[in-house]
Amino acid sequence: MTDYASAIERRFGDGGPSGGNTADNELIHRVLSRKTVRRYSDAVPDENLLDLLVGAALSASAKSDFQQASILRISDPAKRAAIGALFPSMPWIGLSPVFFVFLGDARRLQRIGELRGKPVRNGTLEGFFNASIDAALAMQTMILCAESAGLGVCPISVIRNEIDKVAAILELPDLVFPVAGLCLGYPQGDGFVSLRLPRAATTHRDSYDDSGLPTALDDYDRRRDARHSVPKEQQRSNAEFGEASFYGWSEDKARQAAKAEGAAFPPYLKKHGFTFD
Ligand SMILES: Cc1cc2nc3c(=O)[nH]c(=O)nc-3n(C[C@H](O)[C@H](O)[C@H](O)COP(=O)(O)O)c2cc1C
Repeated sequence: MTDYASAIERRFGDGGPSGGNTADNELIHRVLSRKTVRRYSDAVPDENLLDLLVGAALSASAKSDFQQASILRISDPAKRAAIGALFPSMPWIGLSPVFFVFLGDARRLQRIGELRGKPVRNGTLEGFFNASIDAALAMQTMILCAESAGLGVCPISVIRNEIDKVAAILELPDLVFPVAGLCLGYPQGDGFVSLRLPRAATTHRDSYDDSGLPTALDDYDRRRDARHSVPKEQQRSNAEFGEASFYGWSEDKARQAAKAEGAAFPPYLKKHGFTFD
């Protein structure tokens, strides 16, 4: 088995393509084996490294070269504590040595229009979507660079669930919104590579066809359960849905998605400059 094959097996375990004799590439290896890290040592990453990571993040592709990502680092201990206190079930938010917030920034282009006397309207769905994607790409670029520098990270979109409070703490103006936070530090403990859906379910060629989804899901649930089964006491919403005799990933995600999240986000955006027309 080549190195790629073992990394692919760990990531997918789906018996699909595994790179054949493709030349070794360190980045691909790292990405195939990457994992989210939520526990960090006390070591604080060097400021120069953090500056480089920000530069790398802002080197990500940007829709139309509009450059609508902004990065806000929360270093004020009082602000870190205030944000952390909003999410007690995720203590890593308050405890990680470094915390960035990746912002979709539709305001800058709006201001550029005003400064140049042009009729820019950037509170549209297009403006929101473009700014979101730029911020997400910047974040993922930082994630991969940080991981390759030995750091561990955890994206944090739960901050959008308390958008009014988070925006007040960070003094966000209209047309600027968090896509996600990012905890960052040196990993404590090993963590594990999370098994992904079989590529037969997530990849298509020439036309979209998800007719195999039911079978693929059953297969995935069984294989994932064999690696990391969810203990009975961690089944979600048993009062509502009952205790499941077999509790796979798809049961968990269906239960999770049945409880709508982020109700405060659309009204916040509409109150703060987005018309979505
Ligand atoms: C946009 C985004 C938001 C996320 N938000 C959170 C979060 O609020 N809290 C958290 O603990 N993990 C969060 N995660 C981490 C995911 O739970 C994690 O990526 C997923 O379980 C897959 O694990 P892996 O990255 O180790 O493969 C987020 C990930 C992404 C991409």
